[in-house]
Amino acid sequence: MINKVIVIGLGYVGLPLALAAAKSGYTVVGIDLSAEKVSNINNGNSSVEDVDPTDLQELLLNKKFRASTEYNEIRDANIVLICVPTPLLKNQLPDLSILEIAARSLSPHLAKSSLVILESTVAPGTTRDFLAPLIRSHKQIDKDGFELAFSPERIDPSNKNWNLKNTPKIVAGLTENSKKKAVEFYSKFVDQVIECDSLEIAETSKLLENSFRLINISFINELSKLCYKLGIDVSHVIKAAATKPYGFMPFYPSIGVGGHCIPVDPLYLSSKAKDLGEPMQLIDLASQINFTMHQYFVNRAEEKLQGLKDKKILVVGVSYKPNLADTRETPVEVLIASLKQKSAKVFWHDDLVKEWNGEMSVALGCDFDLAILATPHDYLDLTKLGNVPIIDTRGSI
Ligand SMILES: NC(=O)c1ccc[n+]([C@@H]2O[C@H](COP(=O)([O-])OP(=O)(O)OC[C@H]3O[C@@H](n4cnc5c(N)ncnc54)[C@H](O)[C@@H]3O)[C@@H](O)[C@H]2O)c1
Repeated sequence: MINKVIVIGLGYVGLPLALAAAKSGYTVVGIDLSAEKVSNINNGNSSVEDVDPTDLQELLLNKKFRASTEYNEIRDANIVLICVPTPLLKNQLPDLSILEIAARSLSPHLAKSSLVILESTVAPGTTRDFLAPLIRSHKQIDKDGFELAFSPERIDPSNKNWNLKNTPKIVAGLTENSKKKAVEFYSKFVDQVIECDSLEIAETSKLLENSFRLINISFINELSKLCYKLGIDVSHVIKAAATKPYGFMPFYPSIGVGGHCIPVDPLYLSSKAKDLGEPMQLIDLASQINFTMHQYFVNRAEEKLQGLKDKKILVVGVSYKPNLADTRETPVEVLIASLKQKSAKVFWHDDLVKEWNGEMSVALGCDFDLAILATPHDYLDLTKLGNVPIIDTRGSI
């Protein structure tokens, strides 16, 4: 019988998960190192767009959910979910230091027979060979004193059709019992739980999903450059190809990839592949192609205006994807830096982001030499740009 669930890391993954579990009847405590975040959440405010503040407030009121900075909340919990960031180091290799801190912090408090579930994205073998020994090494935990499972989060922030409930959830366990307990837990609030035969299959499947996106996005970006040279509209090409009812899935051009997942996760797979002497060259090439897209659009701007010095350029949309205020790893950052390097006067507009890197969003208007549409939010009214020429990086207009 599960009485108390802990979710470590109350970000884009952890907070919606904690609330979904609380709504289904579990009593949930979310742990985060950020005292400010914990206080905001306990006051009913969330910075995660997909979280409905009324849902949060109701769960707080009914005492089904609260946030805390204290790891000792774990002592009487049956299930502990880890949702902390797994970023890259400067040299693009996996950085597991945050996961390690979370594991070392939780293990002294872990109750016997409780189940730990890792949701953070990791390379194959990490749950078994990195996380399990870290938890086991703590003196208060005897060898078989806990269960361990891996269930990768598939959340797509701002997606109106697919959410935690209706997106099938992959689950694998260190033991059959771990898997059984994890399946039982998720089945309360997820429509379909898919069991994998091993932790490594589940870990690799998450990296396959995100590498598939990275590679296809880079491919369509290359195609969009070719279409420009051919004088044809890449969006019409994609639309025509997408009429094929099987074997094709549309991807759309951009100035590169952003967020916590697509630019990062495939490099976890590529790093593991190199370790095993079986390099995945396509992933590395795709990363490189995407990373040069901003330069391509700077060149296009330069060509259009015959030089960028002192030209007033408005970059429209700075978050990493449409209809979201999230600027993590946004490729727009390097686009703006490169334009500034060419001595252009760069402004940006994004009413969702509002303030970013110490600068404020400016209004859409006619007083620019060029606009670069980087992230096409639905709310944008581009007619406000009047006759300002637009470079459309997404093929969306
Ligand atoms: N954001 C997405 O769309 C998405 C989708 C699928 C998977 N993921 C994966 O999920 C994981 C979490 O991503 P996220 O986007 O939720 O990150 P996030 O940055 O939004 O949130 C992480 C939270 O963890 C907290 N934290 C950091 N160290 C901690 C610690 N030691 N103890 C307690 N709290 C700690 C941070 O303060 C932060 O609030 C990553 O591995 C990511 O790759 C993210």
